[in-house]
Amino acid sequence: MRRQVMLFFSMLFVSPVFGQVSYSIPEEMSKGSLIGSIAQDLGLDLKRLKTGKSRLHVGNGAEYIELNKEKGLLLVKERIDREALCKQTTPCALHFQIILENPIEFFRITVEITDINDNAPIFKMSNMLFEISESAVRGSKFILEKALDYDVGMNGLKSYSLNPTDHFVLLLNDNAAGEKEVEMVLEKPLDREEIQHLTLTLTAVDGGEPQLSGTVQIHVTVLDANDNAPLFTQSTYKASLMENSEKGTSLMTVTAKDRDQGTNGIVTYSISSNNERIFDVFEINATNGELRLIGKIDYEISKLYQLDVKARDQGGLTHSCKILLDIIDVNDNIPIIDLMSKIHSIPEDSTFQTVVAVMNVDDADSDMNGEVKCFLSDSFTFVIENTSNGFYSIRTNSELDREVTSQYNITVTCSDEGVPSLSSSVTLTLQISDVNDNAPVFERSSYEAYIVENNTPGLSIFTVKATDADWNQNARVSYILEDSSVNGVPVSSYVSVSADSGVIHAVRSFDYEQIKDFHFRVKAQDGGSPPLSSNVTVKVMIQDQNDNPPQVLYPVQTGGSLVAEMVPRSADVGYLVTKVVAVDVDSGQNAWLSYKLQKATDRALFEVGLQNGEIRTIRGVTDKDAVKQRLTVIVEDNGQPSRSATVIVNVAVADSFPEVLSEFTDYTQDKEYNDNLTFY
Ligand SMILES: *[C@@H]1O[C@H](CO)[C@@H](O)[C@H](O)[C@H]1NC(C)=O
Ligand SMILES: *[C@@H]1O[C@H](CO)[C@@H](O)[C@H](O)[C@H]1NC(C)=O
Ligand SMILES: *[C@@H]1O[C@H](CO)[C@@H](O)[C@H](O)[C@H]1NC(C)=O
Ligand SMILES: *[C@@H]1O[C@H](CO)[C@@H](O)[C@H](O)[C@H]1NC(C)=O
Ligand SMILES: *[C@@H]1O[C@H](CO)[C@@H](O)[C@H](O)[C@H]1NC(C)=O
Repeated sequence: MRRQVMLFFSMLFVSPVFGQVSYSIPEEMSKGSLIGSIAQDLGLDLKRLKTGKSRLHVGNGAEYIELNKEKGLLLVKERIDREALCKQTTPCALHFQIILENPIEFFRITVEITDINDNAPIFKMSNMLFEISESAVRGSKFILEKALDYDVGMNGLKSYSLNPTDHFVLLLNDNAAGEKEVEMVLEKPLDREEIQHLTLTLTAVDGGEPQLSGTVQIHVTVLDANDNAPLFTQSTYKASLMENSEKGTSLMTVTAKDRDQGTNGIVTYSISSNNERIFDVFEINATNGELRLIGKIDYEISKLYQLDVKARDQGGLTHSCKILLDIIDVNDNIPIIDLMSKIHSIPEDSTFQTVVAVMNVDDADSDMNGEVKCFLSDSFTFVIENTSNGFYSIRTNSELDREVTSQYNITVTCSDEGVPSLSSSVTLTLQISDVNDNAPVFERSSYEAYIVENNTPGLSIFTVKATDADWNQNARVSYILEDSSVNGVPVSSYVSVSADSGVIHAVRSFDYEQIKDFHFRVKAQDGGSPPLSSNVTVKVMIQDQNDNPPQVLYPVQTGGSLVAEMVPRSADVGYLVTKVVAVDVDSGQNAWLSYKLQKATDRALFEVGLQNGEIRTIRGVTDKDAVKQRLTVIVEDNGQPSRSATVIVNVAVADSFPEVLSEFTDYTQDKEYNDNLTFY
């Protein structure tokens, strides 16, 4: 540093006037540095300084300055710090006097202390802290702490600079006191979500040469403002949901992010809808955005749900998203069968393809779950056809026969194509009404009946029976005797038929010996309209009764005459005397005759052939044998009881007729022998 000595002669007075000298030195000169040659400047002799006992009279700076009497110089006694001496006052000067005696003189000395740049600007605090809301607007001002520079003038504080200057710029003002106020002005708004802390360096510089500077760190904490709305991660969320899902099912979670901090970043979720029903079905967890099912989902009511979900932060900023829920159909509806029209009964002769029922089938499910197929329990007799969408008709598909099946329980089952399939069924009962399509049928193709002769008239002989497969009146059978004649007599004089019961009665008493059998036809006719009938042949056989005794044809029993068979005395054993011939008009056993010898004059002489009625000798005839031999032969039939006839055979054992005659005169008087020659 170049030492500058400035010497002023303001006025130079001769005695006792004192003079005045001014010097100017920079501060901080080292001890002993020369301030000025006072003797010379005051024009004083060095001796005078000595003799005059020159001394410095303390002013405000005596301790800094020393007077060298020998050389007449003012020297720096102590380091002079301008800032300590004068603070910021300028100019800064030391004022003192040099006093001499003999004579007394005094001189005023002024030493101006000039500033050197020995102080850098300083900040009192090591750093500055600011908390600035990110919502602070451009132009917002923040007063910064000033720097201090103890130097003055050019060496004093000159300016500030800030680094970096992305967000803030400095504004310098001179205040009323002439000091530089420094402010930081927000130039570009802050965004906490981008930068949460800024560190700036404020530099203060002075105007000295060389320039000195001081810095301080400015720490800016950006405070959150609710400047970010929540933002959903998707604008639309999609999900699908089976209908009938359990209540409480978690469907999805929506998320909205809020970049703000603290309460400004806390998001709550809510469903917003103007459809009140939505709130009965869905619930969102306000805290975590989880959507849950709380109601019943029915695809048949709604196939799609659209929900608006709102996210809201504590500062009231909102965002919304849509949730689209596709409902998946579940096969939960059975086909509904609606029998629109049905016929209770159809005649058995109905034409093929007669419609018996019309129905509508509806399944509320969709797609395959709603596709319905119908079939019948009896797909042979009936068919089901879909006439148009959902409409079906049931028709006959084969001939009907009430006599085979009089009633059909037609079960219609409709099943959908869902997995598992659901089905429902209805049963309709169809009565088949009767048509007179069956004639009565006799139990047999022909009948044979037997009746024992000599019956009482009116006797029931027999019953014919015909059945008719039809129903009711069509099956009510009446029996009618068909006209015909038997031996030229109308059959009705032989038999009658009971119309209701088919019982055949004999009208008269039959005589087997006159008529052995006859036949006639009985017609069975039903009550249909027109009636149907059939006929059957009935053959009646009259059975023989043993009502006729045998009749002896030979020997002829005449009233008074007498016939006798001749047996010569020479006849051998086994000689055929005669043969009794008898007939029986009955038949069979009743006409099977046998012959026995009932009485004989001499039983030892004759026998009768049991079967043939031949009378033969059984021994030789002797002379002792009577001429007149009388045999009683009984002829019996085999009936039960049997009937018989007796015949008397007169045998004459003689060789000549006259011999015979005398013997037979009294025959007619025999009481036992009457004309009939029969007895029971
Ligand atoms: C919402 O979710 C939170 C966190 O998962 C849970 O603690 C809370 O109980 C849920 N609230 C309801 C009503 O379920
Ligand atoms: C009847 O059903 C069949 C098979 O399901 C279908 O092909 C046809 O188109 C239907 N007819 C009518 C008239 O609906
Ligand atoms: C039809 O159903 C009725 C009543 O259920 C029953 O009495 C009748 O026996 C059934 N008929 C046939 C042919 O199955
Ligand atoms: C009796 O029935 C036969 C067939 O069984 C028929 O040919 C005949 O004409 C019927 N006779 C009368 C009189 O109805
Ligand atoms: C002969 O029989 C008939 C009836 O069978 C009877 O009326 C008649 O009196 C009988 N004659 C004699 C002589 O027995």
